[in-house]
Parts: sequence; C-alpha cells; structure tokens
Amino acid sequence: MRVIVQLWIVAVVFFTLAAGAREAASQALAIDQGPDWTTAARNDFYTRDQGSRIMPLSWMQALQQPNGTPFLEANLGRYGYLPNPADVRGMPVGFTVASQDGVDTIGMTCAACHTREIDVQGAALRIDGGPAIVDFQGFLADLDTAVGTVLATDAAFTGFATRVFTIRLRRTSRRHCAKP
Ligand code: HEC
Repeated sequence: MRVIVQLWIVAVVFFTLAAGAREAASQALAIDQGPDWTTAARNDFYTRDQGSRIMPLSWMQALQQPNGTPFLEANLGRYGYLPNPADVRGMPVGFTVASQDGVDTIGMTCAACHTREIDVQGAALRIDGGPAIVDFQGFLADLDTAVGTVLATDAAFTGFATRVFTIRLRRTSRRHCAKP
C-alpha cells in the first residue's frame, strides 16, 4: 500500500514537471536586457513599421505553397520566424502590416532577422537583438515561386484573384460591423 502511494506521488510530480516543461517550451522566456527593455519596448521592436513594403497583405494571405496550403501557414515558422502572440493578425516577430495608399501591406523589420530564440534544457529563451536563425533566402525563393505560380496560367490567376477578393470583402465587412 505504502509503495503504491509513493508511486502515485512520483507519478504526480513527474507529470507536473513534464507539464511545466511543455508550458515553458510554448511560452518563450524573455531574458533580462536591462530596465529600459520593457514588454512595451519589446512589442514595439517586434511590430513597429519601418517603411518596408513587400506586397498587400491580402495577396500574401491568398498565395499558396506548391501543396496548396496557405503561404502564411503557421506564421512562417517553417523558415524559423518566431511567433508573436501579442500580434492580433498572427504575424511573426518582425513582420509588419502598414497602410500603403489605404491598403494593408506586409513588410519586414530588423526584428525578423535580429530576434534569437535558443533552447536551454527544454526552455525557450528569447534574446531581442540577437541574430535570428532564419532562412531568409528560402522565404524569398518560395515567395517568388508562389507569385510565379499564380502568373503562370489564367486558372491559377483567377483562383488567386477570387481568394484576394474574398479576403478583402471579409475584412471590409468586419470593419463595418465593428463600427458603433
Ligand atoms: C533579412 C534579414 C535582416 C534584416 C531585415 C536586418 N538584418 Fe541586420 N544582419 C543580418 C545578418 C544576416 C547579419 C550578419 C551579417 C554577417 O555576419 O556578415 C546582420 C548584421 C547586423 C549587424 C552587425 C552585427 C555584428 O555583430 O556585427 C547590425 C548592427 C545589424 N545587422 C543591424 C540591423 C538593423 C538595425 C536592422 C534594421 C534596420 C537590420 N539589421 C535588419 C540580417 C538582417
């Protein structure tokens, strides 16, 4: 009986620790970079528009990977870009959405290439300003392929245009609904 109770305690402690480790892995821990580097400063670094314009956001949202899944799938994590839970649009760290002639446009900032995350005994540590481990060349090459694909045939372009139209329509109706 005593052995069974002890086993239970060991099991409970083990699963509690395992759950803690998982939690730590999903939530990166920001290292202390001095009193001026506040959460607000960090979020500003991650999202502030620096003037970069890649293409309209709706185009990027409508582009697809060769297997048909959205190009922006999983916040571009496949290239090493880091999730930014504070960003309401789901953009990764260092990817901005700014208005260009009234059109939401995606851009990139220093933070995309200069935010490092390292794994220390199962815990993710965020180091703002550190060199990122990202495949920028792969990102650009794949984006080029995705754009080339929609330009290659009328059918592909029509599919792309329809997705852009739907995304913009949805966004406009959401904005209207949000108005008091
Ligand atoms: C597309 C990715 C990318 C973007 C965006 C980017 N950088 Fe870099 N940066 C790099 C890479 C890669 C290096 C390393 C170059 C090397 O080692 O030769 C670097 C190096 C640097 C260095 C030198 C670091 C050292 O230790 O010598 C500084 C400073 C720097 N970047 C600042 C910036 C600032 C400020 C911005 C935004 C205005 C920025 N970078 C935007 C990729 C980027």
